[in-house]
Amino acid sequence: MKFGFFAAGLAAALATAAIAQEAEDPFADAVESRHGLMLLMAQNLGTLGGMAKGETPYDAAVAGKAADNIAALSSVMSMDLFPAGSEYEKAADSFALPSIWSNQEDFVKKISALNDAANAMTADAKKDLASLQAGMNGIGGACAACHKAYRQPEE
Ligand code: HEC
Repeated sequence: MKFGFFAAGLAAALATAAIAQEAEDPFADAVESRHGLMLLMAQNLGTLGGMAKGETPYDAAVAGKAADNIAALSSVMSMDLFPAGSEYEKAADSFALPSIWSNQEDFVKKISALNDAANAMTADAKKDLASLQAGMNGIGGACAACHKAYRQPEE
């Protein structure tokens, strides 16, 4: 009987702790999700970049898959991953600058620009090495333009 009470009390305490933790950091999921998305895009861009620079041999199938992945991943990007307040120095691990929310229209435009460049690359990457190389600036430029404006550089 005593143990039963103890177990119930423990379960209740754990539930409270979980809720308290969530209340402390309501943005943890959004920050983690967008980091995962960004890292996956970087990984696939690295595959394309390696071929573009001649570090790895051009392979149309591998390049095409990487480009398709970037297009799919960039299509997931939206303000849903950037809830208001999930910014640098307010949400743990966030390097998202507050100007994202004060300049939201431009930020969303930069998401579209990446989607356009990534969609163009899906054809270029499968065609030949020269087309892949020609498309790299478009994607790389779209990533860089947004980071320059909206990401706090890591020290
Ligand atoms: C529309 C804006 C935008 C575009 C486009 C964009 N990013 Fe990001 N990226 C961000 C922001 C904002 C952060 C910081 C997010 C945070 O820390 O919460 C970030 C963070 C990152 C990170 C760091 C992730 C981490 O774990 O800290 C990587 C890597 C990254 N981006 C790669 C890319 C690549 C590769 C592309 C292009 C294929 C790209 N990003 C396109 C806005 C963008």
